Amino acid sequence: MMNNKNNIYEATEQNLDKAAETIRNGGLVAFPTDTVYGLGANVYNADAVAGIFKAKERPLFDPLISHIAEIDFLPEYAQTDSRVMALAKHFWPGPLTFVLKRKDNNPSIDLACAGLGSLAVRMPNHPVALSLIKKSGVPIVAPSANRFKTVSPTTAQHVYDSLGNRVDMILDGGACKIGVETTIIDLTGKNITILRAGGLAKEELEDFLGEKVYVNDTSSSHPKAPGQLLKHYAPKLPLRINVAETDVKEDEFFIAFGKVSRKADLNLSESSDLKEAAAHLFAYLREAEKHDEYKGIAMSPIPMTGLGLAINDRIKRASYKE
Ligand code: TXA
Ligand code: MG
Repeated sequence: MMNNKNNIYEATEQNLDKAAETIRNGGLVAFPTDTVYGLGANVYNADAVAGIFKAKERPLFDPLISHIAEIDFLPEYAQTDSRVMALAKHFWPGPLTFVLKRKDNNPSIDLACAGLGSLAVRMPNHPVALSLIKKSGVPIVAPSANRFKTVSPTTAQHVYDSLGNRVDMILDGGACKIGVETTIIDLTGKNITILRAGGLAKEELEDFLGEKVYVNDTSSSHPKAPGQLLKHYAPKLPLRINVAETDVKEDEFFIAFGKVSRKADLNLSESSDLKEAAAHLFAYLREAEKHDEYKGIAMSPIPMTGLGLAINDRIKRASYKE
């Protein structure tokens, strides 16, 4: 089939206006954020929101994150308190998503919230995303702009490769800086619990709050964040993780971390920098899976500190065998 990628647009002022109009009219726009590319729709337009699930082939029980551009909007949308507002003021815009109790005056967002009594909301730290939300004048719901269960996109090209012309417009804002999805925290109870490890380290949250932050058991088959399935982020080649460099097989594509003495096909970060590794992770998995002359992918162990929590979470799911 001939295809000239005519739905990828440079993020100019004019194209942002066109994208905002597309959102308002119920279309789907993929856009860059600080973490990964999102597939956006007007949260108040149930048909448009349904279109997201269809384009991604995502089950309807899996709720979406709302993206907003102003903190002041938050109390109109969700139940807040001083802890929530303090976290928002400190960490937004940034790679942190809140799960909050919904206000019951908004049945139009039922589909986006998958009928739950809570909603997920965040403010992305990216000028293109913020401008698009402001110009649209509505919160934009956006899951990662990839087909369900596949690796999340960190470039406009990745979005195109995964969703093609199922999207009305793909705004190109270059590669995402953080490269893994947001950290999701549950703020509906007394304790704060991480539902999904992500681009904001647990340590940074604890430093700010001065209290322990809990981590939800994500190995469950009924996760509290409904999207946290055991198999997710799957590359096309089987992935083995925590592999010492001496155990890498001849027919495996080797993704290293840190200094290694054996030749690596790719290295997430030669200087063992976990932020750099997170930024490379999804692009390298996509690169590796293209090499079907190999039988599989082997990856070095990644430490469990800072963004290592998010990286280990994603690769564990990517390596899960059914
Ligand atoms: O970095 C990100 O968060 C990206 C960018 C595009 O913002 N978005 C993203 O969305 O990763 P998605 O749909 O791929 O993942 C959203 C996760 C899912 O695991 C979903 O189950 C969870 O958030 N979630 C959404 N609403 C929830 C709620 N009310 N309670 C618990 N989990 C929720
Ligand atoms: Mg996703």
